[in-house]
Amino acid sequence: MDVKAKQAAYHDWESTHYDDKWSISFDERCVDYARGRYLKAVPDGRRHERVLEVGCGTGFFMLNLARAGVIGEAHCADISAGMVQVCVANGRRLGIEVLGLVADAEALPYAAGSFDLVIGHAVVHHLPDLETSFAELGRVLRPGGRLVLAGEPTRAGDRVATQFKRLGRVGVKLAAVAFGADRVLADGLAALPAAERHAAALEAEVDLHLFTPVELEGLARAAGFVEVAVQTEELTASWFGWATRTVEAMVRPGLLPDRYPWFAYRTWQRLFRLDEALAGIVPQGAFYNTILTGTAPGAAGQVVAAR
Ligand SMILES: C[S@@+](CC[C@H](N)C(=O)[O-])C[C@H]1O[C@@H](n2cnc3c(N)ncnc32)[C@H](O)[C@@H]1O
Repeated sequence: MDVKAKQAAYHDWESTHYDDKWSISFDERCVDYARGRYLKAVPDGRRHERVLEVGCGTGFFMLNLARAGVIGEAHCADISAGMVQVCVANGRRLGIEVLGLVADAEALPYAAGSFDLVIGHAVVHHLPDLETSFAELGRVLRPGGRLVLAGEPTRAGDRVATQFKRLGRVGVKLAAVAFGADRVLADGLAALPAAERHAAALEAEVDLHLFTPVELEGLARAAGFVEVAVQTEELTASWFGWATRTVEAMVRPGLLPDRYPWFAYRTWQRLFRLDEALAGIVPQGAFYNTILTGTAPGAAGQVVAAR
């Protein structure tokens, strides 16, 4: 099975429960989050008319930005047909028309210059050929169009997050020893039907890259983007977030107290604010998430880089 078939198979399976798994909603909480990432890349918060999300998943970024009022016509592409279906259905439920296509980021089925804005969230690290993918992102943008990528994990941030995931696992395993595995642990992969088990096991094979912010910026520049800028965010918030997410994924449904989601979210918010205060003191590469923006070359008055 080649790497793209693995991406499609794993994400098709994940699409059936993705929104629950990642606590995705299309309410104020997630609208604020999506708008916040957008404003970091586009500080004047301007609306863009024709917008494409590449690797849209279930529509977390695009649909929440549409609800925030900064998106006109919403086009969504993903290599997973399951994800595209859920994205379009989520849009319909929210009264947002989404023009969805099953498509590979390396060969986008849109004419050159089709979009004013191309967005992506947590997608670039899944793409095998980064040079081709970035060239495609640039090709489908009109000259002067904007690229906004968010949610890309940094190499150093991921290394530290891995330790916090381990901490979460150790905590749950200790609880299982103390109170009994049957009472504490959720059913593992073994409880799934064979076909699902195979797809679920691909999780370990779909994350292909980690970047330093400088490397990500270099990819955009090499593809001809101009006015490229990267920012990072989430330090302690990512440590807390990954430890708690690991616990949530491992324990039996219903085991955590009713107030747990509220407690986890409020704590994450406080840590997020602390991290914003730490930006400028802590090196950029130590934070977990990268936000990149760039402009497709060729707008009036701009020097067009050789591509
Ligand atoms: C981690 S999910 C992120 C989904 C969504 N953007 C979000 O933030 O919730 C990564 C998405 O990238 C998609 N993907 C992986 N490889 C792709 C490719 N070559 N072309 C287009 N989409 C791809 C996956 O199917 C999946 O939906």
